[in-house]
Amino acid sequence: MLRNINLIIEADYAAMSKKAADIFAREVAGAPAGVFGFATGSTPEGMYAELAKQRADGADFSGITTFNLDEYHPIQPDDAQSYAYYMKQRVFDPLGIVRTNLPNGTAPDPVRECVDYENKLAIAGDMMMQILGIGNNGHIGFNEPGEVFAAQAAYVPLAQATIDANARLFDDASQVPRHALTMGIHAIMMAKKILLLVSGQGKAAILAAALTGPITPQVPASILQLHPHVTVVADTAAASAL
Ligand code: F6R
Repeated sequence: MLRNINLIIEADYAAMSKKAADIFAREVAGAPAGVFGFATGSTPEGMYAELAKQRADGADFSGITTFNLDEYHPIQPDDAQSYAYYMKQRVFDPLGIVRTNLPNGTAPDPVRECVDYENKLAIAGDMMMQILGIGNNGHIGFNEPGEVFAAQAAYVPLAQATIDANARLFDDASQVPRHALTMGIHAIMMAKKILLLVSGQGKAAILAAALTGPITPQVPASILQLHPHVTVVADTAAASAL
């Protein structure tokens, strides 16, 4: 059973990306100076490309303030593998967004950086919509499976499954940073709306576990069952186990 979750199934990755872009752009049109939460990863790349097309057609994203979910640590912002670099190349410059926030991958005190990031988020005001992807192990942000839901922003060791999954973007797995800074579950759950994008057969089982299984920190995304306004945009392959 799907509780509180609006599930939209699209034929393929392109259609999923277009649908998600339309939903996001409509939200920004309704709150052009609002706070929005962004994710990186492969899944939202198509949505970001769609949004860039919409900007070329006149959509205006320049008034929003953004907060990203996470960043590796340590990593330099001009490192091509950093989320800061990804966001600048794929999102901020193409969409003309200037008020941007990411956890600082060069922070000398990463624990302190988490506190500061959380404070910035709290001061920024209501987050209108948080974009999410889901890890193969059910993580959201870099909130990895564990014994408890990690409420606060945290400096976390990456799960081996995450290191293995993200190795595709590096020369080899040894290059993947072992730690990251991540927004916590509480801040994610405080967003007024959540937009979760999921693509591909490889995510089918974990998506089904997250949306229809027990709510457990072993599957961090399962907490979304308790959020009042979640939209999941999945392609047919990702939705095939639902
Ligand atoms: C990225 C993030 C991660 C990804 C997840 C899925 O900022 O927070 O939780 O959303 O690892 O990644 P992809 O889309 O590459 O499968």
